[in-house]
Amino acid sequence: MISPKLQDAINAQINAEFWSAYLYLSMAMHFESQGHSGVANWFRIQFKEEQAHAEIFINYLIARGGRVMLSPIAAVETEWASPLAAFEATLAHEQKVTALINNIYALAEAEHDYATRGKLDWFVSEQVEEEETAQGLIDRLKLIGDNGMGLYTFDQELATRVYNVPAPLAAKA
Ligand code: FEO
Repeated sequence: MISPKLQDAINAQINAEFWSAYLYLSMAMHFESQGHSGVANWFRIQFKEEQAHAEIFINYLIARGGRVMLSPIAAVETEWASPLAAFEATLAHEQKVTALINNIYALAEAEHDYATRGKLDWFVSEQVEEEETAQGLIDRLKLIGDNGMGLYTFDQELATRVYNVPAPLAAKA
């Protein structure tokens, strides 16, 4: 059985993951409307990944005899000045998510809940990857600048991203 404190923290994280999903879907819809269909594809996949993250936490709470309580998802922005602005917002957001994960990790340690701490290990690694990916895309967009051919190639490349079910969810399937 999970403690009420950790249950609250995980429920808050489920909401944060769904908010992330909503944010990235909003980015996808914005870039779809701007003709950047590759960038839109990248964010659509990000949207799916965030839903999967929420589902991993949901499954975990259920497995531990906890109660999943879904709360309202706050509004998200609907416009970004450029792909660079969106990826910078993505990096800033992922850094906040990393801090949230670290806080739950610290709480699990304080409560000697090693099962939760172990479950969070995957998320800790995932956040390193999320931040690294966003930073890499930012670096490339800065190099490309206003170069139309560079932006076109970048968009084409992001169009090839495909969704892979995250390992903890795939293992459950
Ligand atoms: Fe669910 Fe992007 O972290």
